[in-house]
Amino acid sequence: MIKQDTVDKIFDTLQIEEVIGDFVDLKKRGTNLIGLCPFHNEKTPSFNVSVSKGIFKCFGCGEGGHAVDFVMKHEKYSYPEALRYIAKKYNIEVDEEELDPQQAVINDHRESLYIVTTWASSFFQDQLWNTEEGKTIGLSYFKERGYTDETVKKFDLGYSSQDWDSLTLKARQEGYDDQFLEETGLVVKKEDGKVYDRFRGRVLFPIRNLTGRVLGFGARTLHADKKVPKYVNSPESPIYHKSDVLYGLFLAKKSIVAADNCFLVEGYADVIAMHQAGVENVVSSSGTSLTHGQIRLISRFSKNVTLLFDGDAAGIKASLRGTDMLLEEGLNVNVILFDDGHDPDSYLKEFGSKRFQKYLEGNQQDFISFKTNILLQDSGNDPVKRAGVIRDIVESIALIPDQIKASVFIRECSKKLDIQERVLIAELNKIKLEYARKSTIQRAKPAEITPLPEEQQEQEDRHSGNNTDLQEQEIVRLLLHYGHLPAKWEKNPEVPIALILFTNLQDIEFHQPACKKIITIFFNYLDRQALPEPKIFIQHQDKEIANMAISLLSSPYTLSPNWNDDKRQIHVTSEVDNLKDTVVKAIHRMKKRVIESHIQQIREELKIETNVDNIAILTNKYQKYKRLEKEILSYLGTVIVK
Ligand code: CTP
Ligand code: MN
Repeated sequence: MIKQDTVDKIFDTLQIEEVIGDFVDLKKRGTNLIGLCPFHNEKTPSFNVSVSKGIFKCFGCGEGGHAVDFVMKHEKYSYPEALRYIAKKYNIEVDEEELDPQQAVINDHRESLYIVTTWASSFFQDQLWNTEEGKTIGLSYFKERGYTDETVKKFDLGYSSQDWDSLTLKARQEGYDDQFLEETGLVVKKEDGKVYDRFRGRVLFPIRNLTGRVLGFGARTLHADKKVPKYVNSPESPIYHKSDVLYGLFLAKKSIVAADNCFLVEGYADVIAMHQAGVENVVSSSGTSLTHGQIRLISRFSKNVTLLFDGDAAGIKASLRGTDMLLEEGLNVNVILFDDGHDPDSYLKEFGSKRFQKYLEGNQQDFISFKTNILLQDSGNDPVKRAGVIRDIVESIALIPDQIKASVFIRECSKKLDIQERVLIAELNKIKLEYARKSTIQRAKPAEITPLPEEQQEQEDRHSGNNTDLQEQEIVRLLLHYGHLPAKWEKNPEVPIALILFTNLQDIEFHQPACKKIITIFFNYLDRQALPEPKIFIQHQDKEIANMAISLLSSPYTLSPNWNDDKRQIHVTSEVDNLKDTVVKAIHRMKKRVIESHIQQIREELKIETNVDNIAILTNKYQKYKRLEKEILSYLGTVIVK
């Protein structure tokens, strides 16, 4: 258990934009920061961070919370794991209720796996730098490849000795459980129960996540012998999912943002060589074909990807399929082809970094031209094959969600293939229709205009349309946003808006549990002549309360479309200027609800009442309520349909 003091300190110290900024590229938009949501797939940013409120909210998928929630969701951490991560970021010492490392290991499985891989990484580095075997075999191998000491250190490269069990023994000696060594794949268990080091006799490339934590390893043999696999990699584990990891991203992310471009290469060696040559915006998918998860990782930092291919034709064809995925995800794809069997690493070794950078600048082609050229080379003058090529390329263009971009490519292709543009467009539309019909390929649907957050909210409201809930939420929203502000329009202009709301609504019962709870907390504070700060709710242990508060604090517009006099949503700026109107209307709406239920009740009573006097009384009451209702409705500007 982390002590509450520490928890408070962490919350007080952290800057949400710094915590989230490590994972998402945030840009300023008004008073908020905005970026591409890491929790769902999107091309236009709907992920909002409010620095002043300390919360994030995605208007696309609905995820929201405070900074610790973000780290939990993003890194799949438990609450204490996330707190510890942030504490580390800010150098806050974590006070634990019972500081027993053994206990912590048992409690926190994933954390233990991280601890083991991190330990192993430093063990491998120690072997590389400080043992005879490491120096003569491992380090001299890196030197031979031209890596400087600085580069070796930057990538935390290591060495695993040729012994069967040097890691295993050391780990046991330091108290690490065999179970965690096995689970992270650092050791392999044989059938007879004996274990041995998986990576023995290899140089080690630690694979890190976005925040730099070690997830696993790639280990290269030092032998040219074709019979042993060149690389042995960590298996999948609870902390290592290959398909969601890009080698080098931790070191590359800043440069990717700065250059607004990401180079995608094939191997570890290429990433490292390019860094050493001063090109740092580079990652590798480590020999596997690209996954949607990896593409999404890149697109958080830049929409532009440049693929560096070595000139092996079969390899290029195989990766053309994977690259269609990049187009589908809305990325701009460029290609640089190396010939004469070169890859970035070998090119650099032969020609040096100056010429390499020149090569990058001079040989970039857009993906569609590249694909056209490659396929045309193959088809020669065979008309049937040519038709196939055209179809193939238009299929790729049809995947591009941005219509304007697609039409630019169509034009380019028309020139390259010497076919009229309208023929290509006709083909394009045909393919788009096919895609649309196959509803399974939802991603490839013809581009739709993504609704703006406001419009999305409006649609949601229209569909879910529970007015009572929305009204209650509106009151809570006003309390959270403006409760502390003075109600300047009142006789006593010092009275806070919260008090005005409470005085007017004291008889009205709230139904929605979360709203009810928040109202109660507010009420208890008001009782003590105080007002709760929003963070009381945002950080509340009761998730229902926290979620409601976060979602209300992050909605910059009123919640129901019906409540607006004009069709468009009222924005916060105008709302603040016109608080009286907003508050008084919200009160009226709640009152209207109560009056309506009275009217309904009287109607029921009138149906069964036989006593003339009673009927007169009821009718009188009925008329009184109807007048009230009418007043309120006319105030609210609602058209009366009844
Ligand atoms: N790879 C792998 N297992 C193999 C071969 C390759 O996991 N048996 C992965 C590695 O991630 C490697 C990438 O595929 O980095 C590309 O392979 P290759 O180009 O052969 O590796 P390089 O890293 O370029 O290695 P080197 O230059 O040292 O030969
Ligand atoms: Mn290579």
